[in-house]
Formats: sequence, structure tokens, C-alpha cells
Amino acid sequence: VAIKVARPQLPAILSPKTKQVLSSPDLLHDLVDSLGSPLSILIPTGLCDNVTAFRNIFQARGVQERIWYACKVNKSEALLEAASDADIGVDAASLWELRAALGHGIPGPRIGISGPIKDERLLLLAMQHGSTITIDALAEVCTLAQLATRTSAASPVPILVRLSGFALTTTGRSEPAPTQQPENGRFGLPLGQLGQLFSLLRDPSVACVLELHGFAFHIDNLTVADRVTSFAQVLPVLLEAREAGYPCYELDIGGGFPVQYISRDDWTAFHHAYVDALVQGTPFMFRDKSFGIGITGAQAPNRGNFYPHDLPAYGGRFLQAFLDSRPHGHDDTVADLLRRHSIRLTIEPGRALIDQTGLTMCRVRGDKLSSGGDPLLVCGMNVSNLYEQFTGSEYTVDPLLISRTPTDDVFQPFTCYLTGNLCLETDMLSWRPITFPRRPQTGDLLAFANTAGYMMDFAESRMHQMPPPRKVALFEKADGCWAWKLDDEFSRLDLTSTASKALYR
Ligand SMILES: Cc1ncc(COP(=O)(O)O)c(C=O)c1O
Repeated sequence: VAIKVARPQLPAILSPKTKQVLSSPDLLHDLVDSLGSPLSILIPTGLCDNVTAFRNIFQARGVQERIWYACKVNKSEALLEAASDADIGVDAASLWELRAALGHGIPGPRIGISGPIKDERLLLLAMQHGSTITIDALAEVCTLAQLATRTSAASPVPILVRLSGFALTTTGRSEPAPTQQPENGRFGLPLGQLGQLFSLLRDPSVACVLELHGFAFHIDNLTVADRVTSFAQVLPVLLEAREAGYPCYELDIGGGFPVQYISRDDWTAFHHAYVDALVQGTPFMFRDKSFGIGITGAQAPNRGNFYPHDLPAYGGRFLQAFLDSRPHGHDDTVADLLRRHSIRLTIEPGRALIDQTGLTMCRVRGDKLSSGGDPLLVCGMNVSNLYEQFTGSEYTVDPLLISRTPTDDVFQPFTCYLTGNLCLETDMLSWRPITFPRRPQTGDLLAFANTAGYMMDFAESRMHQMPPPRKVALFEKADGCWAWKLDDEFSRLDLTSTASKALYR
């Protein structure tokens, strides 16, 4: 039995470095043979390349910046070494993330602490290292002030205050909201609590231990315009605080810089084909899964739960679009306003800063038919190793088939659904049919590209007592060949650029 109709393919966009790694089948097979399936592979220099791209955009506009890598996106230690090598900061959202960042040489003052009302131990360690703490609630101002007093903090604790409740045009990741409504955000202070915030900050017991350096927001969608309107709302708040005597020169717009995983054309072809199939009552997903695609009358079908692969801008271009936008009622761009008011912009990219820095490899176990006759390829990994699948969505990037000895023989393409190694019906690595150039054999490898951001290990678990995948970091040797180390053995000294850098800045 075979799935009869050819589906639009969704090949991964691959950086030259990722392509090089993928064209080293012996290396990849040796690694999986030695370290097991699945295997997480990191290419830490990719982070340095992404930092350069973001920095160039700031520099071209003369805007002062702080880039804080939101390290929640991957537990890799090698990526923190790369962040340290690239001289950026870190956004840490737990005690363990803070310890990891400090342990990899990120100086405390270059670390921002975000997250919901924070654990006292996290606040204390952050204070001891001079990190900036982003306040999540009025109650946290009191906790932090008491803690600073109790521990006789040497200098005032730098804080940013996260604000929320902005009017957003977009719901989910990128669907137009029916009406522009204030977000009902879980994090930060509603704009309506600003009065209370300032009276609290004026309280002498708070004023002597905390120092307001600015404001923050993080918009939970992938829309530039919503960041621009939020910026326009926060700017006067920041300037008023400055007028009132607070040294407010920082504005933190959080993360949410999207990544271009596949081409817009491939996505559009796939989306059209899928919507057509739904309309005709012939859905092609395994078990007819619909991913929340709604087809209502003449309205354009939505993207459902899929990641948006057709946004106007990704990564650095998303930042560029933000900086070059003119907020409503302003003749100046965001960049102009930042420069004019000497505001330093902090960004906390997670996903986009580690674009093209990771691959998830797994071994093919074999193929079989489902009881309904659908071809299934059983893989040595599961949904906890591919976060998008874990959330009821789909990682819409086709995996690559890597055999140890590629041949020139002509094969029949083979189309199948990909299943994982858990005893769960929902453990599907691909609900959509994937077409390989030939029938995968037991022992072949599949490579899921660009998985470093969230996909690789955000939700990894020890289901069935399976150990979490091992991680390795790849780096180029002087002769241009790839070398590898276990992730926790990797050092920034393995990056060739280090030789020319001063280490203890
Ligand atoms: C406060 C904050 N900053 C940064 C990020 C990173 O977001 P992204 O990986 O989408 O850039 C998040 C993600 O949840 C966040 O909550």
C-alpha cells in the first residue's frame, strides 16, 4: 500500500555550514552509532554568525544595543560558550539558567532575569552578580526590596519593569485578531498599575535598594506592528520616569524574532494543497488530523496551528522592520526615537539567535503498515525530541534521509508517515506524508534540520525510562574538517575566533 498522491514537499532551508555537516554521512553515522539515537548535534559558531547579523542592523542605525540570548530555547552548554565568545548577554528565566550563564563566563551585569514572580534564590544570586531583574508584578517589587535590605545589598539593584496589556492586532503566532483588543497577558504589570508602581518605588524602603533602569515587554506573537505600537506606548512612560529622576535608559522588547525554516513558495503550495484536500473531504494527514485549519465561507483559510512560514520578515529583517517603522503619530522611526532619547534597546532572541545551529538525528527502526493500511516509518526518537509535535502542531520541515553509503542506483520514491518510539498513538513525528527518494532501510539516519530552537530539548523527557539524547558540538578545525566534542566538554577555546579576543571583558 502506498499513499497515492504526491504532496508538496517542504525541504529545509540550510545554511552552508549545516549543508556541510549533512554531507558528512560517515561522521553522522559514527556519532549516532557511538552515542545513540536520537542525537542532538549543535553547531555553536552559527550563534556567532547570527549575533553579527543582529549587531550589524543596530550599528547601521547607530542604535545602542544589548543582545541577551534567551537560553531557555536550548539546554546546550556549547551554545552558552558561543554566546560568551560573541560577547553578548543572556536572558535567564530560572536559577539554573542563571547558574549556567555565569558558569560559562557571561558576566553578571550582562544577564537579565525574566520570568514569572521569581524564586528568592534566583533573585539573590542575580543581586550578588549585579544582574538586571525584570519585575513581573508589584508583589515582586516588595519581595526584591526586602531581600536586598535583608542581605544588605552593596549597591542598588537594577530593575526593569515588564508591562503588559497592549492592544494587539494578532492572536496566536500570527493570525489576525477579529478586533484589536488589549492582550490578557500572564506576565508583567498591566499598564493600569503604573500609578501604583511609582508610589511603591517612591517608598523610602524601596527607593534606597532598587533602581529603575527602564521598561520591558515581550509580545507573544510574530507581528512587527504590535511591537511598534507597544513601543509607542512605553516610550512616554519611560521618559516620564526619567523626568521624575529615575535613570531610565533601557528598553527591552523581549524575543519573538521568527525563523525562516522553509521557503515561502513551498509553504504556500503545501498550504493550498492541504486546504484543497480538506475542502474536497480528502485530507492527507494521518488519521485526517486537521491542525485547526478553519475554512469559513469566502474567508481566506487560516494557518491553523502551523508555524507561519509566510511572514514579511524573519530574524534580523524582523528587527530591521521594527527599527525602521514609524509609530502612529510620529514622523521618526523607532531607531530615530531611540537615538534621540539615548535609549539602549535590549532584545532577547531565543529561537532566531540559534537559527541553523542544530540538527536532531535519529535512526530508522523499520517500516510497517497501520491497521488502516497506511505506511509508517518507525523512528528512534519521539515527540519529546521535536517540541512542535509535542504541542499538537507539526514541525513542517521535511527530514533528510542519510545512508552511510549513498549509491547512484535509481530508486522508487517512498511516501510514509513518521512515528516515534513511545507507546502513545499520538507519538507522531510527522502527521503529514513524507516522500523520501527511496525506501528507508533499518539503520539509515533521518536528520531533522534547524531544531536547536525549542524543538530539540524544550520538552525532552525520560518517558519509558529512556535517557535524554546526548548532545555533541561540532566545530571546524584549522584544516577545515569537522571535529566534535560532547556538548559539556566544548569550550569557547574551540572556536577559532577566540585567539584574537580579550577573554575577561
Ligand atoms: C521574556 C522572554 N524573552 C525572550 C523569549 C524568547 O522568545 P523567542 O525564542 O521567540 O525569541 C521569551 C520566550 O518565551 C520570553 O518569554
